[in-house]
Amino acid sequence: MAAVTITVIGSVNLDIVANAARLPAPGETVTGAELHHFPGGKGANQALAAQRLGAQVSLVARVGDDASADDALALLRDGGVNLDHCLAVSDTATGTALIAVAPDGENQIVVAPGANRALRAEDIATPQSDALICQLEVPADVIADVAGRFRGFFCVNLAPAMRVDASILQRADLVVVNETEAAWYGSTLAACHGLVATTRGGDPATLERDGELVAEARPPEVDAVDATGAGDTFTAALTVALVEGQPPEQALEFACAAASLATTRMGAQPSLPFREEVIVNAE
Ligand code: RIB
Repeated sequence: MAAVTITVIGSVNLDIVANAARLPAPGETVTGAELHHFPGGKGANQALAAQRLGAQVSLVARVGDDASADDALALLRDGGVNLDHCLAVSDTATGTALIAVAPDGENQIVVAPGANRALRAEDIATPQSDALICQLEVPADVIADVAGRFRGFFCVNLAPAMRVDASILQRADLVVVNETEAAWYGSTLAACHGLVATTRGGDPATLERDGELVAEARPPEVDAVDATGAGDTFTAALTVALVEGQPPEQALEFACAAASLATTRMGAQPSLPFREEVIVNAE
């Protein structure tokens, strides 16, 4: 089977990660953490995840003209993601995420978007790929504009939760949310007549269309050490599988298996699984 082609329009961040004994409460200081730097950003993570899962991926993004950019792009380069449209913006910092991770894998994330805010719709040619994946760490008007021009399979991961133009939901073939985001968006998700995928950590993920259950899958049980990037892996895996033509049930199982694997390793991009690692019943 020829590899599906995917364009990802989204963020690139350098993740500064502190592994702490527990997550701090508001106003509290937790000391004794271990510090790591990992490449991250929801767009970059989804691009590399899709590439590792067998797609041929192109990333449209903006980084700063600083030293962090090289570190943030290193694994995408090594992984063969096309970075021709990943450009540096002068006098701007690369996006940075400050992440605290607890021993059970739960995290807290604060993002300083930096160059991710500099993406402009007029600078983006209409993608010619089979699929387009976007998230909300770049300006939402860019996503609305490009999605409106694009003719293939459009997936939007509505993370982090924020108000978006209804045209994005109406255009989407696939919307991906976690349970917190699903609650935040509430009835506005009804504007989407494509598939809506909802993840619930270790509990079953669902695929629905117009409020009707299409498929349900329970993620395999794993020893989670870091949930960062699991949602990005799920989004990429589900898109790859659906665009390949896998039936919804099988595609959801594939996405759950891939996302579970991503929680078993530290860091966003270092943890993204390769296709060979993802065990699927019916593949
Ligand atoms: O989804 C995980 C990502 O969210 C991290 O890599 C971090 O950069 C934030 O954007």
